[in-house]
Amino acid sequence: MPVAIITGASKGLGRALAGALAARGWDLVLDARGEAALKEAAESVAERGVRVAAVPGDVTDAGHRADLVAAARGLGGLDLVVSNASALGAEPLVRLGELPLAGLRRALEVNVVAALGLVQEALPLLRGSAAGAVVAVSSDAGAEAYETWGGYGASKAALDQLAAVLGVEEPGLRVWAVDPGDMATGLYAAAVPDDDDPRPSPESVVPAFLRLLDERPASGRYGAPALVEGR
Ligand SMILES: NC(=O)c1ccc[n+]([C@@H]2O[C@H](COP(=O)([O-])OP(=O)(O)OC[C@H]3O[C@@H](n4cnc5c(N)ncnc54)[C@H](OP(=O)(O)O)[C@@H]3O)[C@@H](O)[C@H]2O)c1
Repeated sequence: MPVAIITGASKGLGRALAGALAARGWDLVLDARGEAALKEAAESVAERGVRVAAVPGDVTDAGHRADLVAAARGLGGLDLVVSNASALGAEPLVRLGELPLAGLRRALEVNVVAALGLVQEALPLLRGSAAGAVVAVSSDAGAEAYETWGGYGASKAALDQLAAVLGVEEPGLRVWAVDPGDMATGLYAAAVPDDDDPRPSPESVVPAFLRLLDERPASGRYGAPALVEGR
């Protein structure tokens, strides 16, 4: 069975993706900081009959990243890394003039440095997979200039560029940066608490990720809505 590491898998998109991969028979290594929510998510996903290792920790901790890859090794190898855990830098978001620099550093550390650190740790196993892939969960905010999304957006732009270069440097892998589009999750509510407009569920976005895995298009940046609509 293929094996995936998904960071930020206790809720939102990460959890939805974990459920969908488990339904397809993937064994999983799941991460989040909050131990209770992660355990609950892992138990729910494991009901599909797959092996699930729940490894609580912060992706910015190098030792924790090593533990995630070691857990995958214990499941027999590693075929997919999904860097999904993310920090906003300020909750709620604020304009750049007021953005605490410590918040920007945190967004860069979680969204960029930790994502690369995990890939570096995982590369030997990914290169040994017949179909190794890396998914960097990006954002529209990394490509467009939205008021108050500047720090977070800058981190996602950096993540996109790391993914693009990794795709060139590792032609044996697929490296996809994926903009999932807006979703009704805790992250969005924390970013813009006053915005009550309805948004798609994370589950509705998951088919985009499954399509990438099924069709294995070239490494590059993809938008989930277009993938879901079959474009
Ligand atoms: N929601 C949107 O509208 C939207 C739009 C564009 C892109 N995205 C991207 O989609 C991805 C998923 O976001 P989401 O909306 O599903 O968020 P979410 O529902 O808030 O879930 C975030 C997950 O990441 C975990 N996490 C956060 N920081 C972590 C850390 N330092 N180490 C380990 N785990 C951590 C959280 O658990 P703990 O807090 O317990 O650690 C949780 O499991 C993110 O990359 C986000 O930037 C979201």
